[in-house]
Amino acid sequence: MTSELRVGLAGLGTVGAGVAAILAHNARALAWRAGRGMRLTAVSSRDRQKDRGVDLSAIAFERDALALAERDDVDVVVELIGGEEGIARALVEGALRGGKHVVTANKALLARHGAGLGALAERHGVALKFEAAICGGIPIVKSLREGLISYGISAVRGILNGTCNFILTQMEASGRPFAEVLAEAQRFGYAEADPTLDIGGGDTAHKLTLLTSLAFGTAPDFEGVAITGIDKITPADIAFAGEFGYRIKLLGVARRTAGGIEQLVNPAMVRAGTPLADVESSFNAVAADAGEAGPFFFQGRGAGRGPTASAVIADLVDVARGALGPAFGRPAAELVPPRREPAEARMSAYYLRFQVLDVPGVMAEISRHLANQLVSIESMIQRGRAPGEPVAIVMITHEAQHVAVVRALQAIAASDKVVEFPCMIPMEAA
Ligand code: NAP
Ligand code: HSE
Repeated sequence: MTSELRVGLAGLGTVGAGVAAILAHNARALAWRAGRGMRLTAVSSRDRQKDRGVDLSAIAFERDALALAERDDVDVVVELIGGEEGIARALVEGALRGGKHVVTANKALLARHGAGLGALAERHGVALKFEAAICGGIPIVKSLREGLISYGISAVRGILNGTCNFILTQMEASGRPFAEVLAEAQRFGYAEADPTLDIGGGDTAHKLTLLTSLAFGTAPDFEGVAITGIDKITPADIAFAGEFGYRIKLLGVARRTAGGIEQLVNPAMVRAGTPLADVESSFNAVAADAGEAGPFFFQGRGAGRGPTASAVIADLVDVARGALGPAFGRPAAELVPPRREPAEARMSAYYLRFQVLDVPGVMAEISRHLANQLVSIESMIQRGRAPGEPVAIVMITHEAQHVAVVRALQAIAASDKVVEFPCMIPMEAA
């Protein structure tokens, strides 16, 4: 056995405390896997006194996390603070420049700066690893980077945010309100420090950006992701989806098309009984087609202390074994500049919900605006109203151009018979 790998850990929150506990309690088993010992030598957090559920009294404490990148007794910096700028970025850059390996769960940082950080790691001959950044306990980074590489991947799609999947499944199962279920996801440690990143779709977009690079060899292109979150989804939409035989899931989808790479994050109607529709609670899933290697479907817990800390440890074992290859599976200089699919090319069938005043002519007006944009209706539900309340009209369209549906909805929303901007959810092809 060679000398031990010395770990400096920045961030002792949900994930960081989990990593510290595994390093403390599983040292022997990890040494077998890694071929050498791994030891936590220094930590940093804001509050030194907080109980982390693990004894850190013998571990050096740095008030300034950046000092971890300078310490002689640290070979690898584990960044578990979070945030795409600020201290997290400065620490990762400082560590790489100082010739230290970096392991991080910070998808926001990598989605924005992954190409540059990958190049920096290569220049200094060190590893930049991020298994924990995508889908917690599912080993999807390693699988795409090292496993499913022989035939190329044509499309990848998945449920990438545990908080949103937890919210949607809880709302469906119990009818509990959005805010109450989000608070529960926060208590379980699933949500980001800023939960609008979860429910607004930003966190899914960060992960999708990284998956796209791993699958297609493109430079991370977060700006190229079209993002819609789940914040406008109501219990009524979930109930209507059920009536049509669907479940609503927040999906991230990346595919290679004739026009370029398409990256989409949006709530989608997924047919009930299909594997993605059956993914419950904080579980994540990733499905893709790996050419002659066949289709694959991974499912596992996507958020929280246990799954995420486990992925960090897997990266540390790789570093300890000297598996230092490029962050995105090919040298940073070889990452292809992204070519985006134009939005005009996007086609789908759509679920549409209109909240309208129940007055004569409203249906004719909606139909006219849809017809003007060549959007044709496949099926429709209209419910009776409680006195004085607006009524819901719900439709499924035939396949239509995304931009045409948006134009029709803008015209419909301008009507004085329509009380709010209509809800639009694409139907996911099974
Ligand atoms: P968290 O619970 O909020 O923990 C953040 C930690 O960073 C805290 O220990 C905090 O210290 C420390 N910190 C904040 N500012 C600092 C500073 N200036 N210097 C040193 N330490 C500082 O966050 P988390 O949920 O563990 O997430 C950490 C990272 O993992 C994020 O990038 C997140 O996106 C990612 N991630 C999280 C999950 C998950 O399920 N939670 C899953 C995958 C990836 P104090 O404790 O003293 O305040
Ligand atoms: N907030 C993220 C989620 C954590 O809910 O999926 C895991 O990346």
